[in-house]
Amino acid sequence: MEHTERVHDPKYADWDVVVSVGNTDAFVKALMLFCAHGDTLLVDEWTYPAIMETVAPMGIKLAPVAMDTQGIVPEALDKVVGEWSGESRKPRVAYMIPTAQNPTGATMSAERKQAIYAVAQKHNLVLIEDDPYYYLQFAQYIPAEQVQDQEDRYRGLPGLKGLVPSLLSLDIDGRVIRLDSFSKVLAPGLRCGWITAPKYITDKIQFHNETSMHQPSGLSQALVSKLMNEEWGHAGWERHLVQIQREYAVRRDLFVDLCYKHLKGKVEFTVPDAGMFLWFKVNLNADARAKKGVMQDIFNAMINNHVMLVPGYMFSPLGECDEVMDKPYMRAAFSYASIDQFEVAVSRFAKALAPFTN
Ligand SMILES: Cc1ncc(COP(=O)(O)O)c(C=O)c1O
Repeated sequence: MEHTERVHDPKYADWDVVVSVGNTDAFVKALMLFCAHGDTLLVDEWTYPAIMETVAPMGIKLAPVAMDTQGIVPEALDKVVGEWSGESRKPRVAYMIPTAQNPTGATMSAERKQAIYAVAQKHNLVLIEDDPYYYLQFAQYIPAEQVQDQEDRYRGLPGLKGLVPSLLSLDIDGRVIRLDSFSKVLAPGLRCGWITAPKYITDKIQFHNETSMHQPSGLSQALVSKLMNEEWGHAGWERHLVQIQREYAVRRDLFVDLCYKHLKGKVEFTVPDAGMFLWFKVNLNADARAKKGVMQDIFNAMINNHVMLVPGYMFSPLGECDEVMDKPYMRAAFSYASIDQFEVAVSRFAKALAPFTN
């Protein structure tokens, strides 16, 4: 709670925090409080695949909302809800990933969050803020040719104080359910996270916890608690975050430099200011554009070239239908491979794309 106060400074009184075993679990619990069989959940046009897997057996449908380089477009959200003509009752909940969105890498600015929050107020929406990449914000990309001193790229890392304010920090009505996780900043195997929301909501989630996982593993909680409370404190936590921000910034810069070097003309992308994903729009040539199943062909070409990116259709809330199968998008992650594998990977991707691009 002390951390939440420092970082998000919630604007209403009766907020509280409850533990989770990470954001995937937290999402289900938040969803179950507000959506029933037959309801529709508003989501990004491209989103985290676990959402599709979670809602399908619950009989909850997804309504994708158009995105741009900052994530969900507020006007589009307003239109989808305001002119709702779906079979279900009007959606009451919107799920979004405001920082380093999975898969597009988009990060919402403070202004974008304010505009989204205003739409949520207008239509009385609950916002599920799934923000596991929140702490992985870093400096803007400086093109390689403009870099005099490599260190220029890593000045001004945000630490804890320079992070874009969260939706939670704007919330005056108690309509944001914020999901945080240690998965991307300590270790995913800890299965530890926390949910911040009005107390009447966290109480219900606590009750749900008691009838499902009881608690995150005691061993994990003890490790996190020892680290945070006895070893690091706030200052140490911030130092750790700056180190991770730097690690990801180094990876982003190297990866982006190589993409400019090897993929020119083949793809378009926006350089992310946070996280671990690069979202490519593949510039298909005329033959490739005319071919049904072309993204599956590219997928096979990647396998043959020993490189793997995730095709866009796997992130579509509409499922693997004709409408999305050949949309020319691919997600790269620059988190897993070692840095010395980057150039080989990017040049293999270029080779896989060659028959399909100019
Ligand atoms: C948007 C999003 N939410 C949640 C998760 C998983 O988080 P956790 O390990 O906390 O369940 C991921 C990725 O692993 C993700 O991209």
